[in-house]
Parts: sequence; structure tokens; C-alpha cells
Amino acid sequence: RLAYVDGRHVPLADASVSVEDRGFQFADAVYEVCAVANGRLFDWDLHAARLTRNLSALGIAAPLGTAALLVQARRLIAANRAREALLYIQVTRGAGRRDHGFRPDRPTLVMTVRPFDLAGRVGMQAKGVAVASVNDQRWGRCDIKTVGLLPNVLAKASAKAAGGFEAWLVDDAGTVAEGASTNAWIVRGGRLITHPLSARILPGVMRAGVIRLARDLQIGVDERPFTLAEAFAADEAFLTATTAPVIGVVRVDGHTIGDGNPGPVTRKLGEAMWAEIA
Ligand code: PDD
Repeated sequence: RLAYVDGRHVPLADASVSVEDRGFQFADAVYEVCAVANGRLFDWDLHAARLTRNLSALGIAAPLGTAALLVQARRLIAANRAREALLYIQVTRGAGRRDHGFRPDRPTLVMTVRPFDLAGRVGMQAKGVAVASVNDQRWGRCDIKTVGLLPNVLAKASAKAAGGFEAWLVDDAGTVAEGASTNAWIVRGGRLITHPLSARILPGVMRAGVIRLARDLQIGVDERPFTLAEAFAADEAFLTATTAPVIGVVRVDGHTIGDGNPGPVTRKLGEAMWAEIA
């Protein structure tokens, strides 16, 4: 397997950046995770637009223009002969002396490709998953996809310890923002409910895709915060991410959702999404 590091392909095991890289020392970096299905990048334009927005939000120079980045991403996918995979892109502010205020002038760009059985997620889609709520301890700009993921990592670990596939991040008022690495949804009376776009959630590519599909399928969408109590009482629940496109949530903190299986609206959206990806 090959990785891309600042313009070069290197065997993954040998790929490295400076120990003084600000991504490593300060999490001063942003990233994207894109699905590769049948060798093709899925929803590239949305990922590229989000990356551009995140870089400019942090004042990190784009290491490559969007078109050149796509060329390099495709080359790496081809070099790895990847068919079903995840493309990881990370851009850091660069390397330099460890000084909080230092601004190196050359960003670091790293890309890796990992085989990933996206179709294998269909089994998960059929059975559904459990989630556990965890207090949301992240910073105030969760809309920026930074590699500062410690609260997410700890939340996922505690959800896993409780037998959950995902953590739902909840504030003191009991509102569910999103998952540790997924967006969160409930269904009530045939309508979808998901947290509105704000600094509290990542604007997910799959989230946007589900809203578009819902419109096509004439399923109503309410972009509003929902509480954990509403989730317990919901008809259905599901989560979305590049790595988990429309997976039914059948248990929240031990409360069974609906009849304990992914519900009809979730299944309909899941099938429509898989038809687009595959
Ligand atoms: N995570 N919310 C958070 C906090 C995320 O980290 C992600 C994605 C999402 C879903 O976004 P998208 O639909 O664009 O994948 C929502 C990626 C997959 C990750 O960190 O691995």
C-alpha cells in the first residue's frame, strides 16, 4: 500500500512527517474521509468544498487547488488498485519549531487509502446498531473537521464499553448534537428530525445526501435539535456518515426504538443511498 506525502508516493510503512509537524503537536490540521466505491470517489465535490471551507476557516493555505487535489487523489487510488476503500486526506499547517503562535508557510498534505468493505455495512443496515449517550465535551467549532478528535475518541470508547456502536453526544439540556463520527437522526410521524447546521455539528456529506433523497422520496425533514428523551420515544432512529451510510439505530441507552429493527423510513432511505453508492 502506498501513501501520498507532500507530492510523493511512499510505501505506507515508511510514510512519515516531521515530529515538529503542527498536526502532530497541536492538532493544527483538518481532514476528510471519502468513500471509494467501484474505484470511484463518491460525492467528491462536497468533500472538496468542505475541505476548502475548513482550511480557510483556520487560515491554512491550500496545498493544492481542488482540481489538482482530485488528480492526486485519483492517482493514489489507482496506485493502490483500490476498489472499495476510504480515502483519507489530511492537511496540517506545516512543520516548524514548537511555538503556539508560529505560522509555517508550507502546509503538509498527506493522503492514505484503506480498503473498506462498504457493502459489508449492508449487514449492519439490516440489523441496526445500538448507541449510548455521552456528554458532549468538544470545542465550540464542531463544524470544522479538525483532527482534534480526543473528545470524540473518548466518547466512542465509552459507548463501545457500554456495548454501543456509536456515542450520541448530548449537552446539559439533553439535546443530541450528533455522533462521535456520524450525524444523528430520529423519525417521528414519518418525518426526519436532525440537528440543524450550526457550530455544534459537522455538516456531513451523507447528511446532505439524505436530505436530498428525502426530498426526492417526499419524506419531510425537520432540521431542529431533538432531545435524548425524544429519541427514546422515536418511531425510528438512524445515523449517517461516509463510513456508515444510513445505519438504523435500534437501541439508545438500552431503550428499544420502535420494534427493535430498522424502521421502514430508515430502510427506504438506506436502499436509496446504497443504490447511489454502488
Ligand atoms: N467522520 N459528524 C462527525 C463528528 C464526523 O466525524 C463525521 C464523519 C460525520 C459524518 O460526516 P460525513 O457524512 O461527511 O462522513 C458527522 C469521518 C467519517 C471520520 O472521522 O472518520
